[in-house]
Amino acid sequence: MYLLKDKVVAITGASSGIGKALATDALSRGAKIAICARNEAKLREAIGIDSPNVLYVAADVSKEADCQRFVEATLQKWGRVDVLINNAGISMRALFEHADLQVIRELMDINFWGTVYCSKFAVKSIRENKGAIVGVSSIAGFRGLPARTGYSASKFAMQGFLEALRTELLHTGAHVMWVSPGFTASNIRNVARSADGSAQGETPLDEGKLMSAEQCAAIILDGVEKRKRTIVMTGQGKLTVWLNKLLPGLADKLVFNHFLTEPNSPLKGY
Ligand SMILES: NC(=O)c1ccc[n+]([C@@H]2O[C@H](COP(=O)([O-])OP(=O)(O)OC[C@H]3O[C@@H](n4cnc5c(N)ncnc54)[C@H](OP(=O)(O)O)[C@@H]3O)[C@@H](O)[C@H]2O)c1
Repeated sequence: MYLLKDKVVAITGASSGIGKALATDALSRGAKIAICARNEAKLREAIGIDSPNVLYVAADVSKEADCQRFVEATLQKWGRVDVLINNAGISMRALFEHADLQVIRELMDINFWGTVYCSKFAVKSIRENKGAIVGVSSIAGFRGLPARTGYSASKFAMQGFLEALRTELLHTGAHVMWVSPGFTASNIRNVARSADGSAQGETPLDEGKLMSAEQCAAIILDGVEKRKRTIVMTGQGKLTVWLNKLLPGLADKLVFNHFLTEPNSPLKGY
């Protein structure tokens, strides 16, 4: 077991949802946490803990310099990074034909490049400390989802990047893992980008019926402690991944039909 007690854990996107739950769970496991989001006041309010074991940093992960500052502030405070959890992310809901290209670019900048930048600045310390690099991906990183082209591309890219990095680090003792939560209650659908790049401002799902962010975070941190390769969290997710491998044509139809039934589904336009 790789226990998180006394480890330095850096988490991106900790002001809400899964990242916020990861931060409080990691703290309760005895870790020191460095956390970021774009607005420090909002981040501090969300976590609400004033402790020498918490480092708050304002950083936009789509900006290389911000990611460097986040990791360097962590190294300056504790001299090392043991675990980096690349969690910050946004989603989208729009047909590719209608989506402004800037929407796809923004998703790649945050979900993919944010992971690359933070990993780049932390990898040396993580390798030296035989720590872990984690990506919070999605089922969309295994199976492209309609009306989420940019999101799917960003998560496939994240997983390819992490798989290659894991193989590079194979003999160093450092661990690389990505996880694919199923639908989890959070703010992600409210701020998901519409075709013109604005936040969609509503969720098509009943958030109260989804997995809680706390449950999702506990699965992720258990996975870090047990050094899992990947975690696909839900039965629906596991079925989608396997069906896509075995019967991809059927998967196309089932996935289309699933997203067609969402309220205000963009697929109704086709
Ligand atoms: N919820 C789900 O159903 C689900 C399913 C599968 C995968 N995921 C993945 O889980 C991760 C967390 O999402 P969530 O569901 O917890 O969403 P959320 O509640 O919207 O939280 C997203 C977090 O990311 C931060 N963030 C967004 N853009 C950022 C940027 N440019 N720089 C720094 N931080 C940024 C947000 O902080 P600020 O806005 O304050 O900067 C917030 O703290 C994402 O990578 C998402 O793709 C979620």
